[in-house]
Amino acid sequence: MKIAVIGTGYVGLVTGTCLAETGNNVICVDIIEEKVNKMKAGQLPIYEPGLDVLFHRNIAQNRLSFTTNLADAIKDAEIIFMALPTPPGGDGAADLSYILGAAKDISKLITDYKVIVNKSTVPVGTADKVAAVFAENTSVEVDVVSNPEFLREGVAVDDFMKPDRVVIGTRSERARKLMGELYAPYVRQGNPIYYMDERSSELTKYAANSFLATKITFMNEIANLCEIVGADVDAVRKGIGSDDRIGKRFLFPGIGYGGSCFPKDVQALEKAAVEHNYDFKILKAVMDVNEKQKTILFDKLQAYYKGDLKGKKFALWGLAFKPETDDIREAPALYIINELLNAGAEVVAFDPEAMGNVKVLLGDKIKYASTQYEALEGADALLIATEWSLFRNPDFEKMESILKNKVIFDGRNLFDLQKMIDLGYYYNSIGRKIIS
Ligand code: UDX
Repeated sequence: MKIAVIGTGYVGLVTGTCLAETGNNVICVDIIEEKVNKMKAGQLPIYEPGLDVLFHRNIAQNRLSFTTNLADAIKDAEIIFMALPTPPGGDGAADLSYILGAAKDISKLITDYKVIVNKSTVPVGTADKVAAVFAENTSVEVDVVSNPEFLREGVAVDDFMKPDRVVIGTRSERARKLMGELYAPYVRQGNPIYYMDERSSELTKYAANSFLATKITFMNEIANLCEIVGADVDAVRKGIGSDDRIGKRFLFPGIGYGGSCFPKDVQALEKAAVEHNYDFKILKAVMDVNEKQKTILFDKLQAYYKGDLKGKKFALWGLAFKPETDDIREAPALYIINELLNAGAEVVAFDPEAMGNVKVLLGDKIKYASTQYEALEGADALLIATEWSLFRNPDFEKMESILKNKVIFDGRNLFDLQKMIDLGYYYNSIGRKIIS
């Protein structure tokens, strides 16, 4: 099939590349000329494991190309994906100006039937708004489909190629058939395509992300309670996770959820509820608890150093909001850094992928180490904010020779408590007993 993808952000680029991989002809459009030129020259603008191989292969085989010219991209396309940003507006509700603007531009260019797909996370009712833009500007027939994205950063290629499910929101038979054909190669292993109306599909995405954010937040609160009552969150997690109705996944407590999706989507769903006069109490609590959880490591430091952090030097392992990405949007590490700098402390950070992005944001407010061990030089303590595999099994002997004090504050529960006792560390993690 001939496909156009509008927007080459994270979702657009993964979608375009993975759609090309099964033999479709995909043209990706972006307004940023510099970015398009780089992609034309074979440079990937994001780090995502496995994407580079597919990206280069499909460019080489002429199935994937890039342009800034919308008219060229959509001329022959049967399906046009919109993967555009929906940032929180001033009131926290999703800002639809990019999507509606693109819909207007497309509506003025098309001359034959198109399926217009909303891939971005959009509030309930957006498909209707997009359809209204087309109805206003053209007499050409279109079907507007909601097809939310469930990609996780770090495993996005796998998630696209073998999705747990595909959700397609449309009431048009014609669009349903085309979308079903497009996705058939991705669900060969038997995973379902769920067809539903546009509004249910739009809400499915928000409900999924908000539910997952709630699940994590619930565990963060259980972890906080574990610390108070002297229980171990790892034991509790296993104890409840073995119940199929709860499930083992997404029960890991930490320093709050971050990233480009959960914070934005929870906020947007709560705002949408308010707009419809519904008080979504649980989501307000989730946001509130998560804000606090993001600085829990800092609170632990405050308690340990009795409020005197001035002049202290901290090694920080991990800046990305999660491993296997260079994404620092809403990363808890940034909140911790902010608190530490305000308290007059010094931070030396190491992250395998995200240091470049943090340098752009923070410049020389913090120091950057070229290895995880270099970060430890002269540090009063080590803080862990991201669970990169590299940090899970470090050379403890080497660490001991570099660290000024054997003190670790671990926001991701990377180490076994008994091991920390044996090695003689002060070790403060999340929802577990403090080793001292
Ligand atoms: C998420 C959804 O999982 C994905 O389906 C959706 O399309 C986009 O949003 P992503 O933001 O890439 O994906 O990250 P995810 O792996 O879901 O993690 C989100 C946040 O939750 C991270 O900050 C992570 O550290 C945190 N998390 C996750 C926990 O704190 N504990 C867990 O058990 C799982």
